[in-house]
Amino acid sequence: MQTLFDALGGSEGIGRIVNTFYGKVKNDPLLSPIFPEDLTETARKQYMFLCQFFGGPPLYSEEFGSPMLRARHIHFPITPSRAERWLKLMSEAFDEEGVDPLTKELAFLRLTKTAHHMTNTPEPEAHEPHSTPSPSTLTNAPSNAVRTFKTLNFLGERSSAGNDRNG
Ligand code: HEM
Repeated sequence: MQTLFDALGGSEGIGRIVNTFYGKVKNDPLLSPIFPEDLTETARKQYMFLCQFFGGPPLYSEEFGSPMLRARHIHFPITPSRAERWLKLMSEAFDEEGVDPLTKELAFLRLTKTAHHMTNTPEPEAHEPHSTPSPSTLTNAPSNAVRTFKTLNFLGERSSAGNDRNG
C-alpha cells in the first residue's frame, strides 16, 4: 500500500517541502518572532517528524522519543492566526514543490487537525480590555481565526466533559 510518505516523494520530497516551508517562515512577520534565528535544527526535526507522520521511517521518535507535540509547543504563543499562517505557508510549500492535489488534500486533513491542536493562546485583539468596538471593527471581526479559536474552545469543553473521542 502506498503511504502519504511515498506519494510526497519520500525523504527527498519531504526534505524539499520542509526547506521551502522554513524559507517562508523566516520571512513571515507573524511566525518568525517565535522561531529561533537559525532554523537549521528546527527544519531537521520537522523533516524527521513529517517522514514519520506520513507513514515513513520513525526518525523523530528514534532520536527524541514520543512526539508529544502539544507539550513541545506549549512555550510558544500559538494563536489561531499563527496556526492559520503556518497552514498557509505549508500549503504554498506543497504547491511550489509540485505535490498533486489529492495527496495534498489528504496530507492537509492531518496537518490541519494537528495545527489546530497546537493552538494554545487567544488572539491578543480579542482580549483588548479598553477598546470600545466601533462599527468598522465589528464588521471586520470576528475573523476566521477567531471563529476557529471559539470552535476549538468548544471542542475542548466537550472532550474535557469526557463525552467523546479523547474520553
Ligand atoms: C500551528 C502552528 C504552529 C506553530 C506556530 C509552530 C511553531 C513551532 C515552534 C516555535 C517550534 C520551536 C522551534 C525550535 O525551537 O526549534 C516548533 C517546533 C516543532 N513543530 Fe511546530 N508549530 C506549529 C504547528 C506544527 C505542526 C502542525 C506540526 C506537525 C505537523 C509541528 C511540528 C513541530 C515539530 C516536530 C517541532 C520540533 C519539536 C522539538 O523540539 O523536538 N508544528 N513549532
